[in-house]
Amino acid sequence: MRHRNLGLAIFICLAMLTTPCFGTEIKYSHKIDVEKMSFHWEVAGTVLHVKLTAKTTGWVGIGFNPSEAMQDANFILGYVKNGEAKVTDDYGTSYTKHQQDSKLGGQKNISNVVGKEENGMTEIRFTIPLNSGDAKDKALSIDTETVVLLAYGAGRDSFKARHKFRTTLKVNLKTGAFSK
Ligand code: HEM
Repeated sequence: MRHRNLGLAIFICLAMLTTPCFGTEIKYSHKIDVEKMSFHWEVAGTVLHVKLTAKTTGWVGIGFNPSEAMQDANFILGYVKNGEAKVTDDYGTSYTKHQQDSKLGGQKNISNVVGKEENGMTEIRFTIPLNSGDAKDKALSIDTETVVLLAYGAGRDSFKARHKFRTTLKVNLKTGAFSK
């Protein structure tokens, strides 16, 4: 009996250690509010934890380091449908278009995806590597200025729906300082 209890305790400890931290409340040190949208983030070693919220029942999205407009940006978009968060890892293929990394020879590099939709607000949380090594992601440098695009859709749960709101910011991911 004692052996069985010990076995159970070891099993529970191992399960807790190996379970990915889905839903774990991350402390985000930085936050930017723009119109009806917020970008929260936390740099943790080699990864970036992100929380995006916006007044929409459609998608929320972030883009990093375009060469111009939306071109060459690393995009992550997410929406919540029937209580389930869906995210896509895209790349800006022109000033006004983006496509999934996986269709361009890259990969989806997003983990810890969680989302909720409440009272007309959508919240998506996820983690990305600062440098995934993927040809269709750009390495993020936390010490220098990062161009951050923030946008949200008008209400349709579709990554094809255009933005209702979008903006471009220059952000120091380490200090949280930003400008438009
Ligand atoms: C979901 C599908 C999307 C479509 C169909 C789309 C389409 C377009 C189009 C047609 C423009 C040019 C016209 C305009 O300024 O409104 C544009 C500009 C822009 N988009 Fe998107 N977009 C999408 C997603 C996103 C996402 C996810 C972001 C950022 C997270 C974003 C950020 C921007 C920005 C910042 C501009 C302005 C660029 C500039 O004027 O320099 N877009 N988009």
